[in-house]
Amino acid sequence: MTIVFKPTETFHDDFTYRNSDAAILRFPFPFGEDAYMYSVNIEPHVPVGPSPVYLHAFDVDEHYVAECRERARVLALDPGRCKVLPHMMTAQWDTLELIMESFARDYPEHFSLSKNGSTWTWQNRLLGIEDKFTFGDAATLPYPPFEYITRQAQGDFTLQDQRNDNLFVDGGMVTTQADWSLEFDVGMSFHEWHGPVPLAHQIGVFDRALKFLLRLQQAQPVRRLNWTMTINPRLDTSPENYPVWGPDRLTVTPENVAQKVHLRVELQTLFRLPRSNAILFGIRCYLASVDELARVEKWRKRLHRVLRDLPPELETYKGLTRFRQMVIDYLAPFDDGAPLAKGC
Ligand code: HEM
Repeated sequence: MTIVFKPTETFHDDFTYRNSDAAILRFPFPFGEDAYMYSVNIEPHVPVGPSPVYLHAFDVDEHYVAECRERARVLALDPGRCKVLPHMMTAQWDTLELIMESFARDYPEHFSLSKNGSTWTWQNRLLGIEDKFTFGDAATLPYPPFEYITRQAQGDFTLQDQRNDNLFVDGGMVTTQADWSLEFDVGMSFHEWHGPVPLAHQIGVFDRALKFLLRLQQAQPVRRLNWTMTINPRLDTSPENYPVWGPDRLTVTPENVAQKVHLRVELQTLFRLPRSNAILFGIRCYLASVDELARVEKWRKRLHRVLRDLPPELETYKGLTRFRQMVIDYLAPFDDGAPLAKGC
């Protein structure tokens, strides 16, 4: 299907970001059941699923151009949002190759890649980029390879080095995160960077997830969904930027709750990289207002039930305390309590 891009929409100040009808229908709604609890919800990243967002290795949608612009804006204010430790140079090139090959294969009308030995030519028609460079020689690109390619992709990315039977977050491009800091986490191990998450450690979620990831194979990527809620369609809810977005939570009222509160879903993908043996972790963020979601009957009922019965530890950790009840009150009249079929 032809994508109609919305290059001028914004994720700050006047917040002109909206989803088209088609974008609402392809939203990766994360709740297949009426209740939510952490689990090792990892599945193969194969081109099937309840939404077209699963069809390609890296999903490109109507927000592509605007999100790339937003990334450039955040990086101009804070270049430290992209950081890769020096021993990860091979993983940087692995990432560039994976994203370029995937985009050129999956969206040939927008991207192309041609190779003549180590001389590669990359065209990104959506952003008006054409560069010829030598694969393996960073001096031939305008940015280091990881930064170069992740400036041209939606969502955040981190690079995990594997050593001593553990994973270490040794790099990333993180400008659209749900309140965690790359600057703070860089160099940490799997259990260390997951330290603040409640309940999941005790029920063994992180032990099992790490065990699984250490055995992740090349060409067999996996995925999972994660979610939280954000006030206004703001991508950059980083701790660095907290003074800007933290007070937004105080602006929610029963009158504006359905427009202001957004479900924030992360389609997380994990790829074993071929030369470095590192793991690329993609965190692709989708935002939809309660209003937009409420247009789908099953979603408005299910969101109501999940929020109503959410464990208090998750409410606090996800920062929902000030407005969760307002969302529940808004959705309650739509929910007749009848059983809903499993699945999204
Ligand atoms: C939360 C990173 C993989 C489960 C987080 C946080 C970070 C993170 C930075 C926020 C922690 C904070 O509050 O500071 C990563 C990275 C991964 C990865 C870099 C790549 C290997 C996984 C996997 C699972 C997982 C495979 C599977 C169970 C979770 C859960 C949370 C979390 C349940 C809490 C999320 C929430 O309630 O919003 N992760 N993670 N993570 N992670 Fe991961």
